Amino acid sequence: MTAVVIVGAQWGDEGKGKVVDIYTEAADMVVRYAGGPNAGHTLVVGGDRLVVRLIPSGILRPRSACLLGQGMVVDPETLSTEIAELERRGLLVDRDLLVSDRAHMILPYHVLVDTLREQGASAIGTTKRGVGPCYEDKAARVGIRMGALRDAARLRAGVEVALARWAPVIRSLGGGVPAADEVCAHVRRFEGSVVSRLTDTGARVDEAISAGRRVLFEGAQGALLDVDHGTYPFVTSSSAVAGGACTGAGVGPSRIDAVVGLTKAYTTRVGGGPFPTELEDDVGELIRRRGGEFGSVTGRPRRTGWLDLPALRYARRVNGLDGIALTKLDVLSGLSEVRVCVAYRTPAGETRDFPIDDLARAEPVYQTLPGWGPVDGARSLGDLPASARAYVDLVVRESGCPLFLLSVGPDRAATIVARDPWDIPRRAGG
Ligand code: IMP
Repeated sequence: MTAVVIVGAQWGDEGKGKVVDIYTEAADMVVRYAGGPNAGHTLVVGGDRLVVRLIPSGILRPRSACLLGQGMVVDPETLSTEIAELERRGLLVDRDLLVSDRAHMILPYHVLVDTLREQGASAIGTTKRGVGPCYEDKAARVGIRMGALRDAARLRAGVEVALARWAPVIRSLGGGVPAADEVCAHVRRFEGSVVSRLTDTGARVDEAISAGRRVLFEGAQGALLDVDHGTYPFVTSSSAVAGGACTGAGVGPSRIDAVVGLTKAYTTRVGGGPFPTELEDDVGELIRRRGGEFGSVTGRPRRTGWLDLPALRYARRVNGLDGIALTKLDVLSGLSEVRVCVAYRTPAGETRDFPIDDLARAEPVYQTLPGWGPVDGARSLGDLPASARAYVDLVVRESGCPLFLLSVGPDRAATIVARDPWDIPRRAGG
């Protein structure tokens, strides 16, 4: 009976959808705690492809309650579209889908500012979903929380204050400032499907943990995109690390029993920012094509590169990882050799640490391993070709993270479970 956090250990897109789906088979509740519609999980429902941006991937499991915690930023339009789509597919019958009334609301002017900024010289390659400007309002204490959907006058007053603040910015970026009436009318169209789902989600999570239920905290993005621990300023605006589950879902750290970090067998990044192990050659293109490395929210081709073990060690530290789920090992099948970054050469000498504040002057030190053939039929570590096994062993040894799960193909069956996080005993006093 545990509370488990699943968190991205890279720059996001580590294959959370599949791993969360596997872990939620035994979960009573799945909680998202950070980010907003910048995330995107591709779910396959009855042969159809469905991308959810706000609703946790756990929605595929009929028995788990799904919660959107108050650390999130929620676009009511996206949320109601997702709710309608899930209702149409019969996925919301007899289950709780609850939204924190303290989560901040993404409004049309946030999306406008995000989009206009991305047209200028200071663009960092955001998803243009209004996530950054919404978190700016939250920190500036002029944000509007989802609970305002219950009260038209409060909503209107909040929109007027925020618009007065944003108007000069929007004008300076060459945009037209929307009218408060227009913004409120837009938002109120979504009241119907959202208001009945608003609640104090933190209290629900606490009740579930106290009752011995299994709660999964589904991270979004990844450690290297975290606003504090990522490659600032090329980061998202929320706490994407495991600690974000506490602040973003409203539970204390003593309530968390296990943290599993997700990493691909290689690295990807979408948007701007440093990426020392990036491959801008045919191998990079092959990985992109084989791994389907195109953004599920924006469709942008993802940048691809070799696995970065110093970065993984860094992610272990800032998340307190108990272990890793290593995904997409099959994508590297067929390469004659595979490289992995084991250290960095920096002006101060060679280091096993991730030189996050000086990546421009750091040069990866690679170890080269022989490649391997198909692995998607493997159902235990013993089934893997020797060179694939050696790669996995190297990752585990060098990262210092025990292996929880290895994904060797997109199907659910193509998964090797080495250790089940739900078996980790509950922390004393948690
Ligand atoms: P924002 O979160 O839209 O503000 O974008 C900030 C940075 O985070 C950009 O580099 C985005 O590409 C990146 N980002 C945001 N969400 C995701 C995600 O779910 N996966 C991968 N990258 C993301």
